[in-house]
Amino acid sequence: IQLPGTIFFIFGASGDLTSRKLVPALYNLFLDGWMPLNFAIIGMGRSAYTDEKYRDLLLEDINSYSRNGKADERWTSFSKHLYYQISDIGNDDSYQEQVRRINNFKETWGEEPSVIYYLAVAPRFFGTIAEKLAKHQLTANTEKTRVVIEKPFGHDFESAKALNQLLSTVFTEQQIYRIDHYLGKETVQNILAFRFANSILEPIWNRNYIDHVEISVTEQLGVEGRGGYYEEAGALRDMVQNHIFQLLCLVAMEPPVSFQADEVRNRKVDVLHAMRKFKPEDVAKNAVRGQYGSGWIEGKQVKGYREEENVNPESNTETFAALKLFIDNWRWHGVPFYLRTGKRMHQTASTITIQFKDVPHMIFPTETIEGWQQNRLIISIQPEMSIRLQMQAKRPGLSMTLNPIDLIFDYRGAYEGQSPEAYETLLLDTMIGDQTLFMRADQVEAAWDLLMPVLNSWSAKKSLNFPNYSADSWGPELAEALIAKDGFHWFTLPLKNKK
Ligand code: BG6
Repeated sequence: IQLPGTIFFIFGASGDLTSRKLVPALYNLFLDGWMPLNFAIIGMGRSAYTDEKYRDLLLEDINSYSRNGKADERWTSFSKHLYYQISDIGNDDSYQEQVRRINNFKETWGEEPSVIYYLAVAPRFFGTIAEKLAKHQLTANTEKTRVVIEKPFGHDFESAKALNQLLSTVFTEQQIYRIDHYLGKETVQNILAFRFANSILEPIWNRNYIDHVEISVTEQLGVEGRGGYYEEAGALRDMVQNHIFQLLCLVAMEPPVSFQADEVRNRKVDVLHAMRKFKPEDVAKNAVRGQYGSGWIEGKQVKGYREEENVNPESNTETFAALKLFIDNWRWHGVPFYLRTGKRMHQTASTITIQFKDVPHMIFPTETIEGWQQNRLIISIQPEMSIRLQMQAKRPGLSMTLNPIDLIFDYRGAYEGQSPEAYETLLLDTMIGDQTLFMRADQVEAAWDLLMPVLNSWSAKKSLNFPNYSADSWGPELAEALIAKDGFHWFTLPLKNKK
């Protein structure tokens, strides 16, 4: 693809996201030959850096976070495209300076550049930036200018709606790229390929054959110095409203008629609309929250959540959440979906487990069965990147003995080379102008809307008996009970390499 000249203005030039993800991803794209011939990456921030100083700082980041863990000789040519602009979000002069820079590049490159405004700043600044960009006519060219918005997108339904409204006064929906980095992961994109590029799954992908679905995203990490942010967020806002609901939509959506961004997004939003709303009286029954206490992870002692920096010692913020949901449509009627996520858990693993119904009639006598497992399709998003189909098989030998085996598709075995990082995919898509992997306004609002009864009910009940799970465990006991009362248990893939 021959991409037009592109300017990235990154608001939040010295933030964590820029250092760890954005610049390393752009560098990787450059190494792989995906960047346009003409491009400029302009970091915007208050610190008084020169271009040179900024390039040096980013080189350190590349040496820590890039795919190869080290910049190579091509860094020099890449770094010539990096600039720094001292800027103040509230000051008109900064935006005038942007206008001047865009005009300069336009003249030098001899083409109208595409301009991407990347808002890698705290959400409280989104409004001011949007208004100032509009005031200085920086977004007027709706074909050539785009804005990328990082999560959290709103704090609840009302604030997300207000933010969408505000953005819509400045940008068209086609200009807005709301990031959910899970959608950029290879294994997540593959759910679409797996479901809709194979004919054998669709006939069984429904309530007639599927017993229940589990989506589990567990992390060994704690809040990692983000206590201030996390106190206001909690696991439901941080992981469920966005990443986990997106996974759920990909699993549950109807086949789109084409791979066009809006066709795919329409089908995903249908899932959110079909999800049964929590009644306030059902929250206690179908939603479980937890908070980690201290413990040991991989031989290292770790603090409990309430002892973390910038966390209230009596905090009620949940670091674990589990939900049981239903999707009220023809495909999924009566099939429970169990979702869980938590920090400081025993294992880092994101796994989607589709459990199929049992055989209708058992012909094998009990004594032939060594182990019995209903068929399961296990989509392992990370760290293992695989898809397993668990089947019953005959153990070789003179007698008929049955036990479960896995048919395995393992990315690392099937494909050579490294998979791109999520941000590489997503940044390239913003340059190409493909919104398929980005969240549309209505998706974000529908996701918030669904969670509001749980959020409201949880925030109304204070003084919880937290912590209620210790680090390196599988979360609170009630989360086990949530699924055990239906006769199931949370599936976990035995992992060789724990992160
Ligand atoms: C982020 C959350 O969106 O996703 C973090 O804010 C979480 O709390 C992270 O750790 C998980 O992402 P990944 O790609 O490591 O699974």
